[in-house]
This record gives sequence, structure tokens and C-alpha cells, in this order.
Amino acid sequence: MTIQQRALLIVDSDPLLEKALSADPRFSTQSVIFVNSPRKSVSLLVDKGSIYGAIFVNPLISSPGIFEWIRTARKARPLTPLFLIEEKTAESAFEKLQLERLGVRGVIEKPCSLEKLWAAAKLFPLEPVSETAKGPVDIFADAVSEEFRAVEIEECFTEVPQLFDVYVRRESGEFVDILRAGERFSPKLLRAHARRGVKKLYIRNDTVERSLGFCRTLSMTLPYAHGLSAALQQRSELNSWESVTDRLKETREVSAEDVETAREFTGRASEFVTTLDCRSNLAMRKLFDFVSSTDQAVATTIVSAKLAPNLGLENEASVQILGVASLLHNIGLYRLPEKLWDEDETKMTENEKALYQTHPELGANILRKVEGIHPTVIQAVAQHHERKGGRGFPGKVLTVGLSPIGEAVGISNEFVKLICRKNINPEINIEQELDKNVFPLFSLPIVRAFKAAFWGGA
Ligand SMILES: [Fe+2]
Repeated sequence: MTIQQRALLIVDSDPLLEKALSADPRFSTQSVIFVNSPRKSVSLLVDKGSIYGAIFVNPLISSPGIFEWIRTARKARPLTPLFLIEEKTAESAFEKLQLERLGVRGVIEKPCSLEKLWAAAKLFPLEPVSETAKGPVDIFADAVSEEFRAVEIEECFTEVPQLFDVYVRRESGEFVDILRAGERFSPKLLRAHARRGVKKLYIRNDTVERSLGFCRTLSMTLPYAHGLSAALQQRSELNSWESVTDRLKETREVSAEDVETAREFTGRASEFVTTLDCRSNLAMRKLFDFVSSTDQAVATTIVSAKLAPNLGLENEASVQILGVASLLHNIGLYRLPEKLWDEDETKMTENEKALYQTHPELGANILRKVEGIHPTVIQAVAQHHERKGGRGFPGKVLTVGLSPIGEAVGISNEFVKLICRKNINPEINIEQELDKNVFPLFSLPIVRAFKAAFWGGA
């Protein structure tokens, strides 16, 4: 590993940031690793084959959520400087003291350039360690101790103050501190150690565990913790719902308990959308932001909860039926190969398409075996791709037999997919797309309700 291979790791689902950074002529995939999937970034963090100069993360990331993510980052990369990237207009996710206790070294406001990120990382250069090592090889490099953990020396080549006391290990086995927490490394000191063949530095396990403890406490006291922004609280709640759908994808089964959880979630989703006044551009942008960064089933449930009052679904039982159907609508899809999960028929062969089109019935069959599930939920899941005039699939019903709940799930899901497409291609005009390709496929009462819910008109 050489200094030239250190990269900045950036975790954010914002395509505008990725576009802005990649437009910089100094951008290369060796120097900047931009990851829009927080789950994927977790596997990069724990991959010991890579060294990062600094790590940047948007605190409003989707599942596993910022708390678990920071815990993993701190554990896997304790000496790599960690920064948050936030919208300039947004209320800061954490208070200053919380940031310090979480070990976050600063907040970078958007819009941000590559230059701004490199400047924050304060990296200093060093010739490749392996080629410059003149002294004896660090025979204790991989030594494991209950008290200490090893960190690659190249992860410390930054002038950002360190979070922990840092040690080297002598040949005698003794650990000697070379830097106190809060101090910054001098290039001269680190180069001297590297020339002597030192490849690893050490930090005390208990100090790392203490810093992880605060992160755990903060996540466990949600939503009672003070100082966290409303956006972070909302995002954390969405992430907890996503963990339910993640489990359903894994087990590919639905239990009576899952249906109960889905009912509870539906109640909270209804409360959640009351805060969204979609007549304002800001609220609409907020809706687009969290829909595009959230699991599709959870996002569909949020959208359908916004639609519910305009469909005349006022009582709790009917709202729950719509919510449960929205959350479970694609349960049959998870029994099929994963390459079909994004439901993009343009990428499927004829055989794959035929298989994919079995998922509504497959889902209904799974739900028929679940005790206590309402028959309307099963009907809606079976029909969530049926469209007006027999233009959907499996094409078993024409307009007259369409389930209104199935249609509500269908239009909510089409809206979610459209928002996700716009996130990738900002040129897409959502209203035009809806008018041209979505509304003609749904019955008039559903379209009217949808327009009233999201655009305040019929
Ligand atoms: Fe589907």
C-alpha cells in the first residue's frame, strides 16, 4: 500500500454531489470512492485491503442508518478522519458537543468541491513505506493484544487531530505512546517511524469502546435524545421500518407478527405524512429526497398514506389495509431471482418477464397462509400491477373488477419508481410523465385522489 493509493471515501446518495465531484479534472476512481449505497460502504469500511485518507458521510443515509454506520466506521477505521456532509440550508443533524463525542471531525456544507474535501482531510504525503523502510521489520505488526488494536500507519498521515492516544510497539513488546488524543501528527515524526519499518500503530481498545458507547446511547434514546435534527429523527424512523422489509426480503416469508408490525408502521406513516404539505416546493423536494433514498416498499407505504384521506379512507381499519398492502405488495417478488427485484421490464428477456409477472399471484399465495390477514390486502397484492382496460398483468381483471386498494398501491408504487428515476436523471419531468404514462392506466377516482393529495387539485 502506498500513499498514492489512499482515497477519500464519500457516502451519499446525492447524484448532484457525485456529478459535481466527478466533473473535477482531478477526480479519479483511485482518489475518490463515491458510494451511494450505505450498505455497500459498510463492506468497504471493513475491507482491510483499502486505506482511506478521510471519510465523508451524509448523516441522513438510509439503512443501516447513521448511528450504526458511525459505529462501524469508528471500529474499522478509528484513526481515519470522519466528516459529515450536509445541505447548507438544512438544520445540522447533530449538536457540536454530540459531533465531538461521536468523533466527527467537522461538517462540510454543500455544495462542496473536491478541493474542499481534500483541504478538510489535511493529508500529508509520504514516500511508499515498504520501499523506504530501512530499519528492522516491524515483527509485531499483526500482533493482537486484548488491550490494544493495530492500525495501519498510513491511515494516520493526516494533520487532523487524532481522537485517541497512539502507541508504537517496541521489540521488547512494550507499548509506548507517541501521540496524545487531541494532538496532531507531524509529518516528520511519522516518516521517522515509517523509515524504521513501523507498519502499524496501536490504540487502546477501551478508549475506542468508550467512544462507540456514546453512539449506541444516542441511537437507543431516539426519539428522546435532545439536539438531533427533525430530519435525522425522521430518517432514523424510516431506517427502522426498512429493517422490517430487509428481513422480509431475507426470510421471504410473512408471519402474523409481521402483519402486526406492518399495521403499527401504517399508523406511524399516517402521522409522518401529516407533516408534508406537498403544495410547497420544499416539502415536495423533501418527499422526493426520502423516497429516492428509501426502500421501495417503505416509500410506497408513505406515498399511499398521503393518498389515503383523499380516497375517503378515514377510519383506522381501512387505512391499515392500504398500508399493509403497500408494505407487502412485492413480497412475491423476493421469491424470484434478485435480478428481477428492480422491476425493470426493459432489462428482462421474454422468459424473465413471464417469471416476473407471476409475482403478484405468488405474493397473494404467501399471504393467504398468514393468519388474520384481511382478504382485501390479499386481493390488492394480487392486483397491484393490474391496470385499467386490462393493460396490466397478470391481466385477470378489466376496469370493472379492479380493487381500489390494489390501484392505490399501484399508483403509489409508480410514483415512487418515477421519483427514483428522476433521482438518476434530473431531466425527467414528474408531472408530464404522470400525465402521459401513468394516469391513463388508472381509473378516474384514483387519479383525482392522487392529484388532490400531491398537487392540491383534481
Ligand atoms: Fe410489483
